[in-house]
Amino acid sequence: MLINIGQLVTLRSAQTGPRRGTSLSELDIVENAAVLSLGGKIVSVGTAKDALRDPWLKKNRKKVTEIDCGGRVVLPGFVDSHTHPVFMEPRLVDFEKRIAGAGYEEIAAAGGGIRSSLDGVRKASKVTLTQRVLDALRDLAKHGTTTVEAKSGYGLNLESELKSLEAIRAAAKQWPGMVVPTFLGAHVVPPEYRGRSQNYVEIVCKEMIPAVAKRKLAKFVDVFCDRGAFSEIECSRIFGAALEHGLAIRGHVGQLSYPKEGFIESTLECCQPASLDHMDHVRDDEVAALAKSDTVVTLVPGANYFLGLEKYPPARKFIDSGVAVALATDYNPGTSPTISMSMAMSLACTHMKMSPAEAIAAATINGAFALGLDNRKGSVEPGKDADMAVFDARNYKEIPYWFGVNRCVQTIIGGVANT
Ligand code: NIG
Ligand code: FE
Repeated sequence: MLINIGQLVTLRSAQTGPRRGTSLSELDIVENAAVLSLGGKIVSVGTAKDALRDPWLKKNRKKVTEIDCGGRVVLPGFVDSHTHPVFMEPRLVDFEKRIAGAGYEEIAAAGGGIRSSLDGVRKASKVTLTQRVLDALRDLAKHGTTTVEAKSGYGLNLESELKSLEAIRAAAKQWPGMVVPTFLGAHVVPPEYRGRSQNYVEIVCKEMIPAVAKRKLAKFVDVFCDRGAFSEIECSRIFGAALEHGLAIRGHVGQLSYPKEGFIESTLECCQPASLDHMDHVRDDEVAALAKSDTVVTLVPGANYFLGLEKYPPARKFIDSGVAVALATDYNPGTSPTISMSMAMSLACTHMKMSPAEAIAAATINGAFALGLDNRKGSVEPGKDADMAVFDARNYKEIPYWFGVNRCVQTIIGGVANT
């Protein structure tokens, strides 16, 4: 049982579907709160006073493990719904080139970017990759994250993509939080298929997706659909193959350029993607179509920050138009080497003009929706998994306020104190 919670941000709600518009700011805060969990699930949420009057608890108090939160803030554990944790080396050459003025696509064309991470992953053993992923998961938990989506995408051949997904699975088994695996074989066209992207797409659809589905190695298929990566036609083919094999869809869209007109609308209709991510480039009619759908737009401002961009995705336009938005780190070696959801929230507030309340809902309950886990994750209410994070703060608004430091002092996963 968590007791002595100064401010408990529950995000309880009677509404169904992801949070949009003003409901994104409804945090349902309980002051001086307590949370009781049994067998990993939350059983009661309320004021400490009410909890201590509960007849069951009066009788069983001695049997219950108490975690004293010291008057601090408690949130649902963060749901980081977009990460790329299966890589070996940081990309320091790209980092310095960019500081000297080179752009993302320029660096990729010169042999840097995503392709420069392939060698490390292809040569690494599964055990080594597993350890890398596990280190990231442990670091994420220390920063308050308890549910993580993890993509492959730096192997880009059958063997190394399967190895990457197996590493995610093996690491997940050794970590108490929940990991949702995503197959991102269509991250970029690997060098051996240069100029023959259709042949690579064929392999993704006919060999990789069937193999991933057969081994149950992923819940989602993702595609980097953008200039310099895959075209809309290629992306649609891959989404089609994914659906045929019972895998759900998410996408990297509009990070570097506008998608072809009509692509977003037709994708929403045919594939009901759980999430479309980045969306720096979006048109008004696409915003309107997204607002009518249950697809979440996952914003990853860490990538804009790290690439040194002045422009950020139009979060206010999305929210004010009724689009469901989530926030994620996009943890990866090229564009967003951070596991900190607090940092993503801080950037959301300062650069995308989201309020602290909106940022918290986007980082928890809407992240859960973006992964199809809203029945288990993202809020503190009876029946949900007892995943919470304790922050050294008196007010939840301090979490995005104190940027660049980790104020998370404890993470509780399945009712058990983790860090
Ligand atoms: O989300 N946009 C594509 N994928 C990553 C970048 C990956 C990389 O550069 O390694 C992203 O930003
Ligand atoms: Fe990404």
